[in-house]
Amino acid sequence: GAPQTRTPTGAETGAPTTANGQQGAHLTTAQGARLRDTDHSLKAGPRGPTLLQDHHLREKITHFDHERIPERVVHARGAGAHGVFTAYGTAEQVTRAGFLKEGRETDVFVRFSTVLGSRGSADTVRDARGFATKFYTDEGTFDLVGNNMPVFFIQDAIKFPDIIHAAKPHPDREIPQAQSAHDTFWDFVSLHTEAQHHTLWNMSDRGIPRSYRTMEGFGVHTFRLVNEAGATALAKFHWKPKLGVHSLTWEEAQMLSGMDPDFHRRDLYDAIEAGAFPEWELGIQVLPDTPEETFAGIDLLDPTKIVPEELAAVQLVGKLTLNRTPTNFFAETEQVAFHLGHLPPGIDVTNDPLLQGRLFSYVDTQLTRLGGPNFSQIPINRPHAPVNDMLRDGFHQQAVHAGVAPYRPNSLDGGNPFPAGDDEHAFLDVPVTVTEAPKVRANPASFDDHYSQARLFWLSMSPVEKEHIIRAYTFELGKCYHQAIKERQLQSLANIDPELCAQVATGLGLPTPEPTVPLADVTPSPALSQVGGEWPAD
Ligand code: HEM
Repeated sequence: GAPQTRTPTGAETGAPTTANGQQGAHLTTAQGARLRDTDHSLKAGPRGPTLLQDHHLREKITHFDHERIPERVVHARGAGAHGVFTAYGTAEQVTRAGFLKEGRETDVFVRFSTVLGSRGSADTVRDARGFATKFYTDEGTFDLVGNNMPVFFIQDAIKFPDIIHAAKPHPDREIPQAQSAHDTFWDFVSLHTEAQHHTLWNMSDRGIPRSYRTMEGFGVHTFRLVNEAGATALAKFHWKPKLGVHSLTWEEAQMLSGMDPDFHRRDLYDAIEAGAFPEWELGIQVLPDTPEETFAGIDLLDPTKIVPEELAAVQLVGKLTLNRTPTNFFAETEQVAFHLGHLPPGIDVTNDPLLQGRLFSYVDTQLTRLGGPNFSQIPINRPHAPVNDMLRDGFHQQAVHAGVAPYRPNSLDGGNPFPAGDDEHAFLDVPVTVTEAPKVRANPASFDDHYSQARLFWLSMSPVEKEHIIRAYTFELGKCYHQAIKERQLQSLANIDPELCAQVATGLGLPTPEPTVPLADVTPSPALSQVGGEWPAD
């Protein structure tokens, strides 16, 4: 017969997380008492009432009653996989991070997700996709919590609850369940015009990926790298899929939502189990760390802006291979907890006001979602580096901590675990200067440019991509009940590109407004097109 090429599923390998609850050949209670029968409750005679004394019945039903935990407040629908990251060594000049040194292999877990739909929603809806990677490095866990789009709707984390309230289903009817086709979404993005660039990405083919395997990923924010010598650089992270970037057509996405709402997770797991391991290369755009934190006039702290690849090449620094499906969806994909603050030495944050708020939000939500402060002890969240902390007690504590002195230094428990002098493996807070400035609730003036990069994206599209974008806006806006919202959004489109606006306005049967800002003079970036190459003028 044909050789067996199928990769065993995580569940078939039995690895690696079944320590509790499945030992021994006999079915038992949670206390280890062997059972004779799990199909009949204890009753007063075959036709009598059920007896309260039936501990097994009550244990079984009580535990079941508490099986569900809250779904994530965003990115509830997702699929994860295990893999390995192999470093090329090409980042060694700019970061001291050990896992990026040549040849280093690091275990990873990746979770892909949609943003807006609930846990049971369809995979192929129009939405951004999460691309979150946990690197279990031997210098501590590094989480790169990105999306398949390089920009975000808002510039300041304080607006995150607002954009999500606007984009989630309407509070009264709870529709639409997972798409952008509704009044509150378009109300928000037309009133908060900084959202126009990200919205354009959502309306493009990037909003309906063909497969997780054919998505790019982006860290979005600018990070700060520091090398062995202490020199710093600013950087943006990119994931480049080896299979190229591909999308579904709208018609395919619509059909698949009905025929196979699990299309993306099935595709991911089938590929891995067939031995066709998905691969991405990790790339960085390295940018000088100047006091202005700008590059080619682009404010690097503004998460609604990209740096075109033509201006700063993406340098490839390693390869990610996903090669193992999870053993258990709940234990791994559902319980995994990512956090931007999980950084290894050599990678640090910047003052991007969206990033700063995210540093607070993830742990905060996980305290509720995962039931208290000890979720880093859940197997999928355990670092692969040794842990020696002074965190104690709390709900769901699994550790039996030894010693009497969880404070440092002490004279009772072995003193001080900090080695003398510089520890090259210890995290380094880059001592950037914090400007002395008055407290303000304000953005830098550069954040006021809401249209130039949306225009850059539009002008970089191939003719067929433009056609898809026009149809997407027309369909999605066509679903709005309020004409004033459609008209306000058309105004934003006019400020991006009059031709785009005219086409959508015609589709909606509405007049085409004039631009209210000067059209930005931008050079298209062919790298933004999924098709690539240069496009003749329309
Ligand atoms: C979850 C990406 C902005 C709050 C996620 C996830 C991703 C992600 C990929 C899913 C993680 C998983 O698979 O478990 C991003 C990106 C952002 C962004 C790329 C912007 C660049 C924000 C902001 C906030 C926020 C500004 C809040 C201020 C959350 C929360 C979760 C989440 C609360 C759920 C986490 C959990 O329950 O484990 N985000 N996000 N995100 N994000 Fe963001």
